[in-house]
Amino acid sequence: MCGIVGFASRTTPAVGPLVSGLSRLEYRGYDSAGVALESADGIKVYKQAGKVSALDALLARALPEAERAKYTLGIAHTRWATHGLPTTANAHPHVADGGRLALVHNGIIENHAALRAGLEKRGVKFLSQTDTEVLAHLVAAFDKGDFLSAVCDALRRVDGTYGIAAISSRHPGEMVVARKGSPLVIGVGEKDVVVASDVSAIVAYTRQVIYLKDGDVARITPEGIDIHSLDNAPVSREVQEVDWDIGAIEKGGYEHFMLKEIFEQPDALANTIRGRLDPAGGTAILSGLGLSPRELAAVRRLVIVGCGTSLHAGMVGKYLFESLADVPTSPEQAAEFRYSNPIVGPDDWVVALSQSGETADTLAAVRESIRKGALVSALCNVVGSTIAREAGRGVYLHAGPEVSVASTKAFTAQVAALLMMALKLGRTRRLSREAGDRLAAEIARLPELVSAVLARNDEIAGVAERYAGADDMFFIGRGILYPAALEGALKVKEVAYVHAEGYQAAELKHGPIALLSDKTPVVALLADIPGQEKTLGNVQECRARMAPVIGVVTEGDGAAASAVTDALVVPRAGVELSPIVSVVALQLFAYHVARLRGCEIDQPRNLAKSVTVE
Ligand code: F6R
Repeated sequence: MCGIVGFASRTTPAVGPLVSGLSRLEYRGYDSAGVALESADGIKVYKQAGKVSALDALLARALPEAERAKYTLGIAHTRWATHGLPTTANAHPHVADGGRLALVHNGIIENHAALRAGLEKRGVKFLSQTDTEVLAHLVAAFDKGDFLSAVCDALRRVDGTYGIAAISSRHPGEMVVARKGSPLVIGVGEKDVVVASDVSAIVAYTRQVIYLKDGDVARITPEGIDIHSLDNAPVSREVQEVDWDIGAIEKGGYEHFMLKEIFEQPDALANTIRGRLDPAGGTAILSGLGLSPRELAAVRRLVIVGCGTSLHAGMVGKYLFESLADVPTSPEQAAEFRYSNPIVGPDDWVVALSQSGETADTLAAVRESIRKGALVSALCNVVGSTIAREAGRGVYLHAGPEVSVASTKAFTAQVAALLMMALKLGRTRRLSREAGDRLAAEIARLPELVSAVLARNDEIAGVAERYAGADDMFFIGRGILYPAALEGALKVKEVAYVHAEGYQAAELKHGPIALLSDKTPVVALLADIPGQEKTLGNVQECRARMAPVIGVVTEGDGAAASAVTDALVVPRAGVELSPIVSVVALQLFAYHVARLRGCEIDQPRNLAKSVTVE
């Protein structure tokens, strides 16, 4: 949440890289944006409520091209409001020291009220309602001549989370950045240094990056990078190479990132699976888990933690681990888990699911589980992310960057990774070699199965057209398809702003059925797997109340197709794979409903992709 960019160069003007970096980070928040630029004349700040394009337009009016060359150092920010309305005054950067110091911040300063009161007593006048402005004044108050020391002194007084970048005309040519709980990456170019909340704002300049760790504070100049701990002791961090390039985060001819990412799923799944199936043993390899067969065999219970779409993938995981490995499994919403004083210990395996690897509640759940002595692993997509690093062991999804705020390919990659984990765990227990072989062969077919769903995009768009005007929808599924119903409903809510609820198919008649009418379409997950006949019964109950039913049905299943008003057809797949093929059809359905309703698909209102606040 919130995106930060910093740029330091001897010769390259900073405005272009800062604004294009912000556009790359806009998925992290897009209610206001700003830049602070340094030159020999001091610091200039430009801020604007609204999207990065509004800031760009402001800069085009206020800062002529000819003047831009003198600014080769700057910081920038795109905001997702936590404290204070999304106004220009509350936009970052915030200034202190009579406009000599500017600071951008991602995260939350929890003790901002106490710090603010202290600063006000010393005569500081605040211009905004934000916690960030407090931080800017605090740094200024500690500045006794060394900028990095001032930042360290200020941050030692702060409770909460932060990724920050600050510049001060008292320290020309210098930028100080720091992180705790909010990501920050430094791109080390040949002539220039770029800092950003994630590598997507960096890869246009360089693929050589340093991932800062919590507690790191760095002084950045065009000449070099100097990293310290919060106690101001030098630390060293290795330079790593990003393994993808700028093409991965461009739209590549698609109208929206969401559609591009839906269509990337066959490749993403191939990457998730590659090298991880072991045909010789009818199992999966997953060496990143770092667990011996003995440790795996000793696991008594699994807890899967995550939020949103990742939680839904975890809910599919419950069915996989319980049916394939006989291990009791509880999917837990990460925030509820972390505050429930959870009962976990050395016999429990806690698996954290997170596309971004930065979700604050999931990270806190990981920390709590480590504290309590559980085995902890993470399934993350973003390499080098905080959750991946802190969990210490895990599986990267390798689904490629996900730019659209609504998560799509991460879900299918997470389910595929969980399936391979369940296969591995099952094979250390009672799952037979034959069953393992069968499953490994099914998993290997995933890219092909998902391609078959995508080939029906036009048909799905046609069905979406018939229902795009609905104000309410229900999604129903049972067993392993129940989480798929939740995920389908979430996608429609997020991108199409349609009120949608996911229910266990059997639960509908315990209340929600009262809402059904010919105006409330019901999307029923009807893949041809055990339990389907019961859901077909529920479909009849809906149709008897005049509700139109859209069935996600298996190709060739005439009985299911004729029981529904409209069908989204998916290829025949085993039980374990049925949520993946079904959800891909629902992603396309949600996408087309949103498109037909004229929604802002890649950046839905009020949302941000990486939720780094509780
Ligand atoms: C839904 C969505 C969110 C995320 C949730 C967790 O489309 O994107 O619900 O799934 O915020 O994010 P990660 O997986 O990054 O922890």
